[in-house]
Amino acid sequence: MKENNVCKYADVCGGCDYQGLSYTKQLELKQEKINDLFPKEKNILPIIPSDPYINYRNKVQVTFGRDEKKKIVVGNYAKDSHYLVPIEECMICDLKIIEIINSIVRLIKKYHISIYDEQVKKGTMRHLLIRSSSLNEYMVIIVTGSPHINYQKEFIRDIKKFNPLVKTIIHNINNQHTSMILGPKSAVRYGKGFIKDELMGYRFKISPSSFYQINHSQAEKLYTNAIKYAELSKSDIVIDAYCGTGTIGIILSKYVKEVIGVEINEDAIKDALENAQINEVNNISFVCDEAGKYMRKLAKNKKKIDIVIMDPPRSGANEDFLNSLITLKPRKVVYISCNPDTLKRDLTYLQKHNYQIKNIQPVDMFPYTMHIETVVSLELKNQ
Ligand SMILES: C[S@@+](CC[C@H](N)C(=O)[O-])C[C@H]1O[C@@H](n2cnc3c(N)ncnc32)[C@H](O)[C@@H]1O
Repeated sequence: MKENNVCKYADVCGGCDYQGLSYTKQLELKQEKINDLFPKEKNILPIIPSDPYINYRNKVQVTFGRDEKKKIVVGNYAKDSHYLVPIEECMICDLKIIEIINSIVRLIKKYHISIYDEQVKKGTMRHLLIRSSSLNEYMVIIVTGSPHINYQKEFIRDIKKFNPLVKTIIHNINNQHTSMILGPKSAVRYGKGFIKDELMGYRFKISPSSFYQINHSQAEKLYTNAIKYAELSKSDIVIDAYCGTGTIGIILSKYVKEVIGVEINEDAIKDALENAQINEVNNISFVCDEAGKYMRKLAKNKKKIDIVIMDPPRSGANEDFLNSLITLKPRKVVYISCNPDTLKRDLTYLQKHNYQIKNIQPVDMFPYTMHIETVVSLELKNQ
């Protein structure tokens, strides 16, 4: 299936499912997947292409290791293996992030900082997590297996000196043996511990563990469509479910009476509250709760909800959420999904309970990977 391999790691990495395929072909495959999943739907719109379609990722996490010759390798494990693919180059990541990673590797060598060894569970450098924003601000999270870093002061000083766009550096300690990158303890070594982004004219704070869309220009298209499909009016009460740092709710707040954002991650909720303040939005509130549980409370209290915008993780919405949604009977539901299969499952349930699909709009957020983002609008049928 491979046409022109562009990335030199294409054969070993496996990070890009569509490596070697032209971008047009990738879009065709994604469109086909959505068309096949919803054979009866007439309102499937053409997928919105990503612009740019390379170097779009604003969040990159890498693992440290050593190769057979004991040379430091920093990258990601090849699919289903324990082989670390170096990330000296990457087609889909923000190029500056790759530069910062390479610069940090040089400093690790300069200061003889040890590399964490997964086998014996000893050593320092375990992972790096780097995030960037459209305001050209970069966040570096250094994840170590033990609290001590050789020449820590000099190391941090040099990261700043050689990478002036780095606005904050966080040291996270992870001595646990799970698949989680970040451990429970963090300390800010430089800057404020967060970076800021600008999206559709609003400012947003991004903390280390908060969800934030990884493709900035596509996030704007995704949100614009979600808001358009919601057909909002000034008297509406809107739920922004799985709201992350409050982006969607804050952006649409000016069109409605009230917004309630619900999200399970405490750090994201803290960011959301500050984001509302930064943007002087006064008609939004945030609740830190499991979305299904919170919707059940609303349904029990017979709260009047006009519109629900939901953007769940890959697992989709749970039964509690969907049951409460059909009890609340919002006029419109806008479902943003990063997993077509759970989307299909949840839409089937809503269709059985008096909702009809108005539009299905795929948006390409993740070129070179098989992941598909979709915005679907549903309307409550007259009863
Ligand atoms: C795909 S993200 C969407 C975030 C946000 N809408 C945005 O566009 O930035 C999904 C969010 O759901 C949150 N989440 C996951 N499971 C949840 C649950 N059961 N209840 C509430 N929030 C949940 C995650 O922490 C994450 O912030």
